Amino acid sequence: MSNVKFYGGEQYPVEMHKVRIIQKLTLLPIEDRLKAMEAAGHNTFLLQNADVFLDMLTDSGVNAMSQEQQAAMFRADDAYAGSATFTRLHEKVSEIFGTPYFLPTHQGRAAENILSSVLVRPGTYVPMNYHFTTSKAHVVANGGEVLELIKPEGLEVTSDLPFKGDLDVDALRQLIAEKGADAIAYVRIEAGTNLIGGQPVSLSNMEEVCEVCRTHGIPSVMDASLIADNLYFAKVREPRCADLEIGAIMRAMCDPFDIIYFSARKVGFGRGGGICVRDTAMYQKLRELVPLYEGFLTYGGMSVREMEAITVGLDETLDFDMINQGPIFIDYMVRELERRGVPVVTPPGGLGAHVDARRFLDHLPQTEYPAAALASAVFVASGVRGMERGTMSEQRNADGSEPMAHMELVRLAMPRRVFTLSQVNYAIDRLDWLYQNRRIIGGLKFVEEPEILRFFFGRLAPLTDWPNQLVAKFRADFGDSL
Ligand SMILES: Cc1ncc(COP(=O)(O)O)c(C=O)c1O
Repeated sequence: MSNVKFYGGEQYPVEMHKVRIIQKLTLLPIEDRLKAMEAAGHNTFLLQNADVFLDMLTDSGVNAMSQEQQAAMFRADDAYAGSATFTRLHEKVSEIFGTPYFLPTHQGRAAENILSSVLVRPGTYVPMNYHFTTSKAHVVANGGEVLELIKPEGLEVTSDLPFKGDLDVDALRQLIAEKGADAIAYVRIEAGTNLIGGQPVSLSNMEEVCEVCRTHGIPSVMDASLIADNLYFAKVREPRCADLEIGAIMRAMCDPFDIIYFSARKVGFGRGGGICVRDTAMYQKLRELVPLYEGFLTYGGMSVREMEAITVGLDETLDFDMINQGPIFIDYMVRELERRGVPVVTPPGGLGAHVDARRFLDHLPQTEYPAAALASAVFVASGVRGMERGTMSEQRNADGSEPMAHMELVRLAMPRRVFTLSQVNYAIDRLDWLYQNRRIIGGLKFVEEPEILRFFFGRLAPLTDWPNQLVAKFRADFGDSL
């Protein structure tokens, strides 16, 4: 992907790949979109994909594969034990991440389950730059407590700070002094912070955090699920990385960590996951749980075809022209939304464009789930499926009280190599319209609220008749257009 200068002087992102397999899309009329949203309990996770025009729910498991990945899938060695496919994946992981041991898992959260089961004891703490839903749920399920040590600027919605995902190292030192190193199960750095706008972590911050961990004998763990975007941002925003090859930045980031795990639904353009380990004793401890939860050590719940695709996909993660497509499209979308006055998280991060529902719907209190209401309204107005990343994504405290999220975001994910610029422009246009009509949008309430990870299956209902009013205004403005 390159930003190319056009004759008129403007720069536009131009795809450095072409589309050779297509999937037909449907854009339902707005009345049918509302019916689909109602059937889904105003939760975009519960929509049927057939009703969705642009699926910007996630970048997980929905990235486009290259022809090299598809070709590799044909040679997969389907064996329960000792598959040559696994050997190829293991060798690639060791080459890229620089770790001798690799434990395969069926996806990222399975790696989190194994890590937390082995490392977290009741009453211990897991400091992180910021939590991810499943990473926190596994720590909590094992009796641990997550402590977020993001620098205060990381939670400012608009900023010029290039690395808003950095962990506050002084706060980490203070925490260790207060609680003692033994009370800290591990320190987790998420390279590219999912819940706060895909904001990257600098190489220097990773090095500093790991140095503190080493001094105190605390395991350092990197969640590398979003490392592809993080590599791009290090290259373009961190001066010391500007002249380094992507592979060299990758190794520089991985080398200080004891353990690295990832969701290969994100990094590697496939579907799977795994844990990379340096220490033999740690490897042996973690290994026990792989056959118990995942499958034999040479597939870990992944299909051999996916493992072949991931091996090639990891190589493509070191190709700047491949990993810059997402961040450059996101940058374009964020800047265009900002130009139209739509409140967005800045600077643009990885993963997707993040709309600030708190400012967008500043007439709604957090108790009425503004991010969920906006995600619902975006789908009704456009057929674009985004994801709520706010209070609805939080879990209730043990006493039943509801923690309010630091940010109320609607994430419009940019699956890698999937959408065209005209589709992105369509999404921008409908968000612009919605912003001009934002006062119509009202709040939501839970009508079905699961205890754990409630955002996946929870169902909500509007507090007023606002969805029908939105449809009526759309018809008034767009006539019979879709
Ligand atoms: C940063 C991060 N870690 C872990 C996970 C969990 O990975 P998976 O969805 O493969 O279980 C995700 C998924 O979105 C993620 O973004």
